[in-house]
Amino acid sequence: MDAIREVEILFRAKYPILQIVSWEETRVLRELEELCRRLDRTLHVWSLTQGLKPPLKRSAPSSGPSLPAELEVLAQVHEAPEFTAFVLKDFHPYLKDHRVVRLLRDLASRLRGRAQTVIILSPIVSIPNELQKDLTVVDYGLPSPEEIGRVLDQAIAAVKDNPQIDATVTPEDRERLIHSAQGLTLDEVESVLARSLVAKKRFDVDEVLEEKKQIIRKSGLLEYYPATDQLSDVGGMECLKEWLERRKDSFSERAREFGIPAPKGVLLLGVQGCGKSLVAKAIAAAWGLPMLKLDVGRIFGSLVGQSEENIRKAIAVAESVAPCILWADELEKGFSGLGGSGVSDGGTTARVFATFLTWMQEKTKPVFLIATANDVTALPPEMLRKGRFDEIFFVDLPNRKEREEIFAIHLRRRRRDPAAFDLKALARATEGFSGAEIEQVVVGALYTAFGEHRELEQKDLVEEAKAAVPLSVMMAEEIDELRTWANLRTRPASRRTPEPSRPRRNAPPV
Ligand SMILES: Nc1ncnc2c1ncn2[C@@H]1O[C@H](COP(=O)(O)OP(=O)(O)OP(=O)(O)O)[C@@H](O)[C@H]1O
Ligand SMILES: [Mg+2]
Repeated sequence: MDAIREVEILFRAKYPILQIVSWEETRVLRELEELCRRLDRTLHVWSLTQGLKPPLKRSAPSSGPSLPAELEVLAQVHEAPEFTAFVLKDFHPYLKDHRVVRLLRDLASRLRGRAQTVIILSPIVSIPNELQKDLTVVDYGLPSPEEIGRVLDQAIAAVKDNPQIDATVTPEDRERLIHSAQGLTLDEVESVLARSLVAKKRFDVDEVLEEKKQIIRKSGLLEYYPATDQLSDVGGMECLKEWLERRKDSFSERAREFGIPAPKGVLLLGVQGCGKSLVAKAIAAAWGLPMLKLDVGRIFGSLVGQSEENIRKAIAVAESVAPCILWADELEKGFSGLGGSGVSDGGTTARVFATFLTWMQEKTKPVFLIATANDVTALPPEMLRKGRFDEIFFVDLPNRKEREEIFAIHLRRRRRDPAAFDLKALARATEGFSGAEIEQVVVGALYTAFGEHRELEQKDLVEEAKAAVPLSVMMAEEIDELRTWANLRTRPASRRTPEPSRPRRNAPPV
């Protein structure tokens, strides 16, 4: 629903105190003014520097000692008549003051049922616990495509007679410009259009996209990830690749018309160094969508209370880029300590986690979440419940055929012809090796050959493999445990069962 519609409903239902969360003061104020005009209410706007505008007519000048401005304004609202609305700008810092909290609670009980509303307008949500029940948060989303379109049309109209500027915008251009500007505030849209006119003498989509990259950079939580790896750079994982291939065009208009819902996301669980991050990166190229990497650790910023804001912001920015892929690498790093530290950090982790889960469950924007993790015990069970991810894949150690593929990939990547090597023998010599370890074998062998001033030979690779002790040997028990766990709950990423990390009596045939 439109945010201002929601505000209207809350006004009519006589909710006493609202908090509107937005960076766009101008836009929100303009829409509130319009709403108040329609509802026949007088809008008073308060800021620390300006006081209340327009001021209230007071029956008697206040006597007694003068109050600090933030308390004074609440006292005034208390005495104000009905059919009014009060916007308090940048009021959130005062919510830490217990006197302010007390006055707001008194106000809430007085205003409930009266045509009189207090609106705290700020870019940050920070509600003291005592006020949770008295205050309703309205998330003022970023401007809709229609609103951006209006700004664009105004800009076009303003320059259409200017001979130095090419103001022709075809309907397709218009569509693309609006799409690329989504996620910007209206002020930002205006400035970026102006910048494009100065720099390019026309309305240019790339200019707008550049601005959006800025915003993503500034948010500090998300990072644009260039599509460098291809699915063909990933050895094995046939089932996962097929699954991804089948969903390639599922974000298109055509798929929507066909009745296919946009996929939500996948979770890749598995053994270290087996290519989870690699395959995540490859999806961007395979699907031709922009990819944003979420810094899971940074979400839980040092400032408690900001983390909730952080995750909301990250989600909003990602949605504004949609359709896109959101990559949360090593998810467990962020959400671990849920249980334990849920107590020590005042429940912040739990609340951030809840926000994230709700978003995963209810998201309507085409943002495909790809999450990776290797410690399942750290992941809260709610995360794994049906409906959150479309599928949970288990990425195991590569089997013999997959190891051949991985050798071929890494030899080719270092400009060696895989056909010149006995890949079967190499795969046999590397039982229990992860993809990362196979890569290390290739790199190590290259060093040896280079040191001896000759070309790389089969024996270098074999020697290197013999010398290495794969992690799976040292961590055999952990890996077995992970497999048992995964068997019941996940789908294997690759088609064949790989060898166990160490010989067992009931080992499946490979
Ligand atoms: N299946 C594979 N095919 C090709 N290369 C691989 C494969 N698995 C791993 N590698 C190589 O090993 C490197 C490290 O793998 P990656 O970081 O993707 O593992 P991971 O599963 O994310 O590990 P971790 O759990 O430690 O994060 C990759 O960049 C790639 O070069
Ligand atoms: Mg990884």
